[in-house]
Amino acid sequence: MRVLVIGSGGREHVISYKLSLSPRVTKLYCAPGNGGIASIAECVPIKATDIDQIVAFAKSESIDLVFVAPEDPLALGLVDRLREAQIRVFGPTAAAALIEASKAYSKDLMKRYNIPTARYEIFDSESKALAYLESQSMPIVIKADGLALGKGVIIAQTLDEAKEAVHSMFSEKKFGQAGDVVVIEECLNGPELTILAFADGETAIPMVSSRDHKRALDNDLGKNTGGMGAITPGADLSEEDELFINEKIIDATILALKQEGRPFEGVIYFGLMLTPEGPKVIEYNARFGDPEAQAILPRLRNDLLDIVDACIDHRLSEVVLDFKPGASCCVVMASGGYPDAYETGYEIFGIEESGCLVFQAGTKLVSGRPVTSGGRVLCVYAESENLDDAIEKSYESVQKIHFNNAHYRTDIGRTGK
Ligand code: AMP
Ligand code: GLY
Repeated sequence: MRVLVIGSGGREHVISYKLSLSPRVTKLYCAPGNGGIASIAECVPIKATDIDQIVAFAKSESIDLVFVAPEDPLALGLVDRLREAQIRVFGPTAAAALIEASKAYSKDLMKRYNIPTARYEIFDSESKALAYLESQSMPIVIKADGLALGKGVIIAQTLDEAKEAVHSMFSEKKFGQAGDVVVIEECLNGPELTILAFADGETAIPMVSSRDHKRALDNDLGKNTGGMGAITPGADLSEEDELFINEKIIDATILALKQEGRPFEGVIYFGLMLTPEGPKVIEYNARFGDPEAQAILPRLRNDLLDIVDACIDHRLSEVVLDFKPGASCCVVMASGGYPDAYETGYEIFGIEESGCLVFQAGTKLVSGRPVTSGGRVLCVYAESENLDDAIEKSYESVQKIHFNNAHYRTDIGRTGK
């Protein structure tokens, strides 16, 4: 089969890696790919958001399957366009991807179908939002409605901070159009947990749980990032919580989307918080998380292509997911300064010598050598029978990899959030 993966990060590297292990994949392309993906797939210089060019490429190269990994092309309707062109594709339609592309839509969906989430109000004007804040207790959470690379959420500790956040979204257009509508919600407490599930519109099967570490610095300090590292499993869930999450969150969401006429096919992401009142949904995403995918997929024993086929053909209920027992950890090495301004163009040393799986994100090849080209640069993976061991192994490998101004957290897997 001739397969095309869309995207250019560490997530797309691990997806390409897993697909490259499938005996049924005869040719693998990635658009646009990166320096690491180039070693397992042919990288095609088409942007993930260039819908017309992707459709044209898939047609001209007789692609048998397109795997759309990032949120932007999903929200832009790449899956719909490929389906119209009769090209087989894995990922949700734009209608189903709205659970990620609009926080207002996802909150209203949860309310309509009784799916547990933080209390909230939605605003389309600054003055109404400011007036509402006056009556609320702090801390409080302010969220831009649209896609903002994981950065559109502000947890305000004081009324002044909350007002400033609202002002920055409406008047200063800090997140562009994504902030034209703002969700203000109750601040929840508890450990966070990510559950990813494959879905075929009717059935969803969860993968091993994971935990992302979103803040840039140790001890969950610094700004929110796309994710600085992840572990699996993400928590030691009680049977009761597991059942609750499966029924009241995962199955309830899949059923809700089906009833709304937006059946979800692809990978659905549940960002959860384990609050004292039970698990609640913090956010949905319409795709694999990054770096959660890098921590989960190497543990998956199934052929990823078999699962993708089952989702597309609506026979996921026949699939049994098989994960290697134990635990995994991946540590993101980023360019110093990320998620704010950072420098790129630095040569990376030690990837091959590190002795583990390294998924590349912001890298490119210059004269055959990997060079930094983005904020999150590498994701260093290790697995073991237990989590402590997996964490230790991944940090041992991190020590062997070098580039100028490299920044990584030293507490992945060791902090509660
Ligand atoms: P989101 O992009 O919605 O996942 O939010 C990013 C991060 O902000 C989450 O991973 C949480 O750490 C935090 N967050 C979002 N919503 C809430 C909330 N209602 N209460 C507490 N923390 C939150
Ligand atoms: N790691 C969080 C995300 O992919 O949205």
